Amino acid sequence: MKDTEKLIDFTRQGETLELSQIKDSNKKMYIESYGCQMNFSDSEIVASILTKEGFSTTPNIEDADVVFVNTCSIREKAEQTVRNRLKVYNAIKKKQNPKMLVGVLGCMAERLKDKFLEEEKLVDIVVGPDAYRDLPNLIDEVHDGRKAVNVILSKEETYAEISPVRLGGNGITAFVSITRGCDNMCSFCVVPFTRGRERSRDPKSIVDECKQLVVDGYKEVTLLGQNVDSYLWYGGGPKKDFGKLSQEEQDKSINFAELLAMVAEVSTSLRVRFSTSHPKDMQDDVLYTIAKYENICNYIHLPVQSGNSRILKLMNRGYTREWYLNRIEAIRKIIPDCGISMDIISGFCTETEEDHKDTLSLMEAVKYDFGYMFSYSERPNTQAQRKLNDDVSKETKKRRLQEIIDLQMKHAFIRNKEQVGKIHKVLIEGVSKKSKEELFGRNSQNTVIVFPREHYKPGDYVLVNVEDCTSATLKGKVTKII
Ligand code: SAH
Ligand code: SF4
Ligand code: F3S
Repeated sequence: MKDTEKLIDFTRQGETLELSQIKDSNKKMYIESYGCQMNFSDSEIVASILTKEGFSTTPNIEDADVVFVNTCSIREKAEQTVRNRLKVYNAIKKKQNPKMLVGVLGCMAERLKDKFLEEEKLVDIVVGPDAYRDLPNLIDEVHDGRKAVNVILSKEETYAEISPVRLGGNGITAFVSITRGCDNMCSFCVVPFTRGRERSRDPKSIVDECKQLVVDGYKEVTLLGQNVDSYLWYGGGPKKDFGKLSQEEQDKSINFAELLAMVAEVSTSLRVRFSTSHPKDMQDDVLYTIAKYENICNYIHLPVQSGNSRILKLMNRGYTREWYLNRIEAIRKIIPDCGISMDIISGFCTETEEDHKDTLSLMEAVKYDFGYMFSYSERPNTQAQRKLNDDVSKETKKRRLQEIIDLQMKHAFIRNKEQVGKIHKVLIEGVSKKSKEELFGRNSQNTVIVFPREHYKPGDYVLVNVEDCTSATLKGKVTKII
């Protein structure tokens, strides 16, 4: 899943609750989110739960009765960012807003549990990703003078019937979560510990949420899960119990390819994206479904992590270099114009210069459209931390990462240049950051395209003739609105 590690402060938009459901009160909450799209999506669930309790959202931390930070543990730096934010909250609490409560949500809350309260005196509430329904009780506990913690992970919780309050969005693209947790146990990864067992959400509630988004004017959904290809609905419960069912019950189940088709059929004007695919689980049926529906975007984020099979084995990724390249071949064959992106980690335990070169050569073979690249950060209690040596020096990790980034920039430029002179269907998302006279949107392959504003507006689908590019964006002019 795309991991942005950036801050968004939320203002209330796109309220979806019935007014009658909202208790009369003027308490205010402020939410900041870090980490992956799933965290941003979860913050919308938190906002929904508390809106029903009479809270409204505020973009001003100084006015808030409760301040939440939704946290990420994926790398040490992500945790450090949150610690720094807590220092800022502390200063605001002392000088401007002594009444405010501070709640820590998300993956750091789950990882550190009540240790958080010892380490950060400012924090009043610690809540893990499966316990957000308990937030109103926890806030009451704090009002009664106690600190409050709930970090119980669930085998069932999917927040299926909660209508998220769409926060800080553009009113055009939305996230819809389809699975929670992860059963994969990649040796470097903290997510299985912070998010618990993998479970899938009822397809009916997913389709209903997408239908509502269409009614509310949304034009694109991104289906979210740590490993969307392992989506499996058979009436609820953990994925691992599927094998215990009778053949007849198993036959009635719905897999990811079937779910994708159901969502694509909600409306032809609704674009469908998804993240993240796992190379070991991505089957051809998903590729054929993407190829069949015009409104399922031709874009796959397929994290590889390393191009060397020995390192992949140590990472416990469940595939080899050859298997991965075979999946790329299948994508190219079934969806010829598919955008492909990756995640790569440099300097994992025992990685040699030769292993690193295998990563670079795999990149050469694929020529990704874009990628998210990181240097290895050891995480407490993971298999890698317990069993392997974090023996690649910081300098080497950094240098290898830079080589990976440089090569990716080169490839992105090559890929973008191939698009110059072609017409792309673009969903307009907003005004370009660089100039008010320009709009931006993305093509099916997820590449950003910038073009003159003229009379077009966010939410329109337009055809853009691409005339120029950088390694990050395509530039062009609208030829037609559709
Ligand atoms: N579920 C997704 C990934 C979620 S985490 C998947 O399996 O692809 C997003 C990315 O963060 C990962 O793909 C990986 O590249 C990176 N990452 C995870 N743990 C890391 C660690 N300990 N150090 C550095 N990067 C890490
Ligand atoms: Fe982490 Fe692997 Fe699960 Fe992704 S698939 S969340 S990298 S354990
Ligand atoms: Fe996401 Fe970070 Fe948790 S990437 S699942 S918020 S550890």
